Amino acid sequence: MENITKSFGAVQSLRGVNLEVAPGEVLGLVGDNGAGKSTVSKVLSGALIPDSGRIEIDGQPVHFSGPGEARAHHIEMVYQDLSLCDTIDMAGNLFLGREPMRRVLGVPLLDHARMHRDAQEMLRGLGIRIPNTRLDVENLSGGQRQAIAISRAVSFDPKVLIMDEPTAALAVAEVEAVLELVHTVSRRGVSVILISHRLQDLFLVCDRISVMYEGQNIADRKIGETNLEEIVDLIVGRKFSARSARALA
Ligand SMILES: Nc1ncnc2c1ncn2[C@@H]1O[C@H](COP(=O)(O)OP(=O)(O)OP(=O)(O)O)[C@@H](O)[C@H]1O
Ligand SMILES: [Mg+2]
Repeated sequence: MENITKSFGAVQSLRGVNLEVAPGEVLGLVGDNGAGKSTVSKVLSGALIPDSGRIEIDGQPVHFSGPGEARAHHIEMVYQDLSLCDTIDMAGNLFLGREPMRRVLGVPLLDHARMHRDAQEMLRGLGIRIPNTRLDVENLSGGQRQAIAISRAVSFDPKVLIMDEPTAALAVAEVEAVLELVHTVSRRGVSVILISHRLQDLFLVCDRISVMYEGQNIADRKIGETNLEEIVDLIVGRKFSARSARALA
């Protein structure tokens, strides 16, 4: 993404954002509330159309006028507010809109058996332990719901997977499962963009962290060349870290 801008009326949410991610790389995207993280990821996933700027995939310029076009270019996003259907079971959510069908006497019917078989296989492949794919999604825990949402995105065979706050509402064990899933997916060569306020999580899985501040990305750090303190300082827009300020005093 190059020099992306986006305004909502008088609010200039993105003021020239540059973002790059390599195959298999996990990029952490951080910034204070309202810094523009969700907006930039919605632009990349085709949910928002930018006012200006360029998006390139493998060196080719692309233009998305909707999420379907981004999906066709293998960009998937898991939203902050999970987009699952509560009253359908797990397998149904995984295959929503592309359910396997079979014909009985020429009448198309949902192939439930195959859907559940495929769902179990899909989840097993990602190392997700969910005993029964026939449970309605409303009865799942937060971590299990997150796992289903990520599995659904992964099943579209993404090159780029964007996750907006996937661990915000999760318990410790569930967070670990989601981070493990990030590992699994990135090892397959998928570029992952992970938005999170839980900086400690990012230090566990990211290769790089990009910091946004008031609609711009102001810093980019390899994970081995930074630390929590520096990232916090960058997020709040402090010029010097507490430590360097002390050193100057
Ligand atoms: N649809 C919209 N209409 C108007 N303003 C919007 C819209 N979407 C985002 N904004 C504004 O754009 C700015 C950036 O919002 P964004 O949601 O990208 O922030 P964020 O970095 O994801 O924050 P958070 O960490 O709280 O999720 C905010 O000032 C927000 O009010
Ligand atoms: Mg957000």
